[in-house]
Amino acid sequence: MKILFFGDIVGDIGMQALSAILPKLRKDFEADFIIANGENASRGRGLIESDYEKLIDMGVDAVTLGNHWDSKKQIHDYLDDADQLIRPINLLNYDHGVGSALFEVNGFDVRVTNVLGQAFMKESVAAPYQKMMELFQEEGETAIHIVDFHAESTSEKALFAHVLDGRVSAVIGTHTHVQTNDPQIFEKGTGFLSDAGMCGAYCSVIGFDPEAAIEKMIFGKERRLSINDEATPLVCFVYLEIDENTGRCLDIRPVSYIAGRPSNGEASI
Ligand SMILES: [Fe+2]
Ligand SMILES: [Fe+2]
Repeated sequence: MKILFFGDIVGDIGMQALSAILPKLRKDFEADFIIANGENASRGRGLIESDYEKLIDMGVDAVTLGNHWDSKKQIHDYLDDADQLIRPINLLNYDHGVGSALFEVNGFDVRVTNVLGQAFMKESVAAPYQKMMELFQEEGETAIHIVDFHAESTSEKALFAHVLDGRVSAVIGTHTHVQTNDPQIFEKGTGFLSDAGMCGAYCSVIGFDPEAAIEKMIFGKERRLSINDEATPLVCFVYLEIDENTGRCLDIRPVSYIAGRPSNGEASI
């Protein structure tokens, strides 16, 4: 089974870039299933219902989230009804929506789970490993299981992936918005990449306009971080090939496209 996993979509520019290229990528990579992280899709923070629906309409099969999962409070109104939307599994004292969901793809079960890390993150969450063990106990283990581990620290991501080796198909990091080039397949078959990157403005500060970020962060001015929707778009994703019967990762490759330039993938746009 071939799966494409898109890193954090940041703002309208990320939404538009993904929408424009997804049909071609689905075809070129013969993708069976599409996962995208939507935590920054609505103007850089959170995910409103209409943007969630746009993602589904453009062909995303499963939408994951992260620390910005409820930066737009409207999510509390539609989360229970959004059956392709997966919020972090290890939120404290929150029962709405799901942190892990099963999808049927070509007759096979595919599980997608979203987990928040703890290192250098402000949010208080349940321990990621314990929460995964609870999930396995309650739901059993699914051969094809993709985990979006949304975290800042590369070492936390790597150790979380290693402790799950052989129990999930892949652990893909999100949150930093910077694609890493460390794809690995561990001994027992779990694929790992520290970070999938983002879909958003190419020359930016993790998706945001550098000028506003500099004024705010360096010169202490009252500026709201903004997104330049006229910027050159960047689309980052991970290509995964998974053995449908064993759930082992057979191939994992980070790919990025910058509009108008040759990509590091096999095709260009
Ligand atoms: Fe993000
Ligand atoms: Fe994040």
